[in-house]
Amino acid sequence: MQWWRDAVVYQVYVRSFADSDGDGVGDLAGVRSRLGYLELLGVDALWLTPFYRSPMADHGYDVADPRDVDPVFGDLAAFDALVEDAHRHGLKIIVDLVPNHTSTEHEWFRAALDSAPGSPERARYHFRPGKGENGDEPPNNWRSIFGGPAWERVGEEEWYLHLFAPEQADLNWTNPEVWADLEKTLRFWADRGVDGFRIDVAHGMAKPDGLPDDPQARIELLANTDGDPRFDQDGVHDVHRMVRAVLDHYPGRMAVGEIWVRDDERFARYVRPDELHQGFNFRLLQTPFEAAAIRDAVEHSIAAVDAVGSRPTWTLSNHDISRPVTRYGGGEVGLARARAMALVVLALPGSAYIYNGEELGMPDVEVPDDALQDPVWERSGHTERGRDSCRIPVPWEGSAPAYGFSTGEPWLPMPPDWDALTAAEQLEDTGSTLSMFRHALELRHTHPGFAATDDRRTRVEWYGAPPGCLAFRRSGTTLACALNTSDAPVPLPPGDVLVTSGPLTEDGQLPPDTAAWLA
Ligand code: GLC
Repeated sequence: MQWWRDAVVYQVYVRSFADSDGDGVGDLAGVRSRLGYLELLGVDALWLTPFYRSPMADHGYDVADPRDVDPVFGDLAAFDALVEDAHRHGLKIIVDLVPNHTSTEHEWFRAALDSAPGSPERARYHFRPGKGENGDEPPNNWRSIFGGPAWERVGEEEWYLHLFAPEQADLNWTNPEVWADLEKTLRFWADRGVDGFRIDVAHGMAKPDGLPDDPQARIELLANTDGDPRFDQDGVHDVHRMVRAVLDHYPGRMAVGEIWVRDDERFARYVRPDELHQGFNFRLLQTPFEAAAIRDAVEHSIAAVDAVGSRPTWTLSNHDISRPVTRYGGGEVGLARARAMALVVLALPGSAYIYNGEELGMPDVEVPDDALQDPVWERSGHTERGRDSCRIPVPWEGSAPAYGFSTGEPWLPMPPDWDALTAAEQLEDTGSTLSMFRHALELRHTHPGFAATDDRRTRVEWYGAPPGCLAFRRSGTTLACALNTSDAPVPLPPGDVLVTSGPLTEDGQLPPDTAAWLA
């Protein structure tokens, strides 16, 4: 019943996955048309990024109606058909909820603008008078994650809070209507048969009383650090308890939070038994390709959840971060390392999240200035290029853009030299990244080292390993994983080799930038 505990979840960035109607933007019918591929890949569940009604200022994370489908992605009938077909293919469906903010096109925000300061309509958001003689300075010194002040002035009298783009107004989570609305949204999708929810900015929502200045006046873009008054306030846990209480009425449903909180103990709070079933721990994804640092990140991630009886989740990639191939150095080396890290992650206990295209070894793509779409580019005054480079559409087949993604012009340009990267090419090649993922995922389903999920199997046992290398075994099983981040080949631990991320040396050693599973 707790299918998520060991699940491999595939993140579909819907805009970039598959376009069924030629408008250059991926859609729900596109996802449905590729379910056969996802079943072949061997994942257990899909996480769909927001497909709700939205003016797309942040590509769907600015939600104007959380209980309807945006026409660019389809309609409710297309969604229902997708869920039904996915279930037929043995795939669970997780949808993305965005409770921290709404689009400024949401009917609530429009009503707030039409209403006076102090009105119930404004009380659903954070409206405040400005500072300074004419009220023309923001109410506090908070910065937006996307750059610039976190406040936008409306009329003479008030400003509203937006931790992200100005088109994403933060909701006031002390307002009971806001709670009731999230509950309604949860039930709406749960009743339509979804199996889980990804909670966007799960460390957001609650704001400190009086909205005090940030003593550090943090300005980092896309970075949340400990002690930040904008995030990880104690009150947020009441929201997660409510989410959990609703989901407890729907057996087999789960919630996973996006939790940019580094401290183990602070992180653990989100996955206590009466809160979220899972949380994304981003430590590993922020770690360089270096064995000691990787081991440290793994140990912290396990310790954080073990303390509260939860299980870890692992992720190397998503739609907000530079892709692993590029992050680990780019080119052949970056690809080899990304493949090695994929085997590490898939060997660890708990569940793993794969971002679409990761199984193809997609790198980041440099997007020309005039094609950039991420609000970060404008908000940062053209100093930060934003996240478009990791959001390029998936290449399916053929030798020229749009590689079967769309019959039209893709919403972000695709490189001319991606013919070897397409899913169709890689399916034919036993040495491809896709084939490696398929093999590893098949082993996850069939090898006894992955079978039972008693609690001991949350843990790993570390072997002694040469400098720059690591090796671990899943507790209570014979399944081991070895990784070489040094610059010389090393002998493998004892055991039969099940799968490797790249060829071994002629004398059977594990080369640099390579990982292997052994039994
Ligand atoms: C999360 C999403 C990101 C979005 C932000 C605001 O971090 O992953 O893509 O921009 O929330 O909703």
